[in-house]
Amino acid sequence: MSGLSVKLKTPATGEYEQPTGLFINNEWVKAVDGKTFEVINPTDESVITSVQEATEKDVDIAVSAARKAFEGSWRKETPENRGKFLVNLANLFEKNIDLLAAVEALDNGKAFAMAKGDVGACAGCLRYYGGWADKIEGKVVDTSHDTFNYIRKEPIGVCGQIIPWNFPLLMWAWKIGPAIAAGNVVVLKTAEQTPLSALVACNLVKEAGFPPGVINVISGFGKVAGAALSSHMDVDKIAFTGSTVVGRQIMKAAAGSNLKKVTLELGGKSPNIVFADADIDNAISWVNFGIYFNHGQCCCAGSRIYVQDSIYDEFIKKFKERAAKNAVGDPFGQETFQGPQVSQIQFDRIMSYIEEGKKSGATIETGGNRKGDKGYFIEPTIFSNVTEDMKIVQEEIFGPVCTISKFSTKEEVIKIGNNTTYGLAAAVHTSNLNTAIEVSNALKAGTVWVNTYNTLHWQLPFGGFKESGIGRELGEAALDNYCQTKTVSIRLGDALFG
Ligand code: NAI
Ligand code: MG
Repeated sequence: MSGLSVKLKTPATGEYEQPTGLFINNEWVKAVDGKTFEVINPTDESVITSVQEATEKDVDIAVSAARKAFEGSWRKETPENRGKFLVNLANLFEKNIDLLAAVEALDNGKAFAMAKGDVGACAGCLRYYGGWADKIEGKVVDTSHDTFNYIRKEPIGVCGQIIPWNFPLLMWAWKIGPAIAAGNVVVLKTAEQTPLSALVACNLVKEAGFPPGVINVISGFGKVAGAALSSHMDVDKIAFTGSTVVGRQIMKAAAGSNLKKVTLELGGKSPNIVFADADIDNAISWVNFGIYFNHGQCCCAGSRIYVQDSIYDEFIKKFKERAAKNAVGDPFGQETFQGPQVSQIQFDRIMSYIEEGKKSGATIETGGNRKGDKGYFIEPTIFSNVTEDMKIVQEEIFGPVCTISKFSTKEEVIKIGNNTTYGLAAAVHTSNLNTAIEVSNALKAGTVWVNTYNTLHWQLPFGGFKESGIGRELGEAALDNYCQTKTVSIRLGDALFG
């Protein structure tokens, strides 16, 4: 890979070889237009390296490589082997956990320990879908004595996949696992903020035994490479995770091109509801994790906190103390829980929401400032004295910032919990089983956690109601979004019309 890799260093692993090319046909290649772009370290704002930048022409090349692989041998590959390759890949993720996690921490800024959790979840997800590969089954349906009908589950074909920067490796695994299990081929575009870990993972794709062209990964910008992928006439399906604004553009691109199938996993403004009968210390710990995990850069972040009035004062006192104790600092620090935000743009966006909150009259209970003068660090921030119409209560901030308000009755909190255009997640903290079930069933969200938060699992479907998305990732449900249903109807009797 001459000229298409560099030697880099991470504090956790020392020197390693970082690929910088586009991964097409199991080879590292240069971008046709010779463009590259810089990758920034959010911890100290330095340039880590540059990677090849895909434009429309590279998307074309990647899509035809994928098409060729699909129509050639991959269509005929046995389900057993598809599963085997995925399990191999899962094992390689585990074997390389330190390197993958270190690159993730370097590029994205998340704590190394948390990044290791992500890599473990990638392995779990890939292995789970490896297990599904030979269990995707059709059906025989009897309609009359002289007809034989069977229903086949077939792969869709070439899948375009566009992922964000908040979980670069995890989103890679969530997208690739079900697509490959169902027999598809993929062209995946990483986020321009965080291309590095996915490229390291591509070396493992080859090692796992995948034939050329089955998994192709390109680095590039949304408006160029992402737009080319979502409007491509030879891409059969597009799967996207990111902002609701871009999700709408993806749907338009699909509608304006070949009506490719679309799945979207978008934003959220998830309510985290604490009833007076909850175990308060437990609830505080989950509420804290619910908003501050991954620096608040989670689509399902519990950013709207509602606490029942009789425990509100005690809750806010303890929650403030807990939030202020979260260790914010160098991702490679032993104790670090929260690293920097991913980019200058995200940092500025979050700080402007904090300003907006102050201007609208909300009270800062803790935080509200930049931390340090280098890197994109922001203090864990809590706003109280908020009203439902404030921007900080309505819009996704995607940073370590939450709002907290009081409620008195179950009926009231169900109503305000659902007072959002989003519907990705929600949580209820209570020791009353009836309250837990009643409120969970009434909340319009794809996932409701009870006495926990952010505890996603690859076996459980994840996705949004309302403007949080279309389709589901993870679990058996994700496979539905990567299969076509074909009906074959065979006439056994004589001609019906003579
Ligand atoms: P974004 O939606 O612009 O980026 C996500 C991915 O979409 C990236 O790979 C990007 O290159 C691609 N993209 C951007 N424009 C595109 C286009 N026109 N066509 C095709 N692909 C395109 O998100 P961004 O700007 O990085 O973050 C903005 C906000 O989006 C965040 O503050 C947050 O609120 C939300 N977001 C939500 C995520 C989630 O997990 N649901 C992840 C990232 C961001
Ligand atoms: Mg963007």
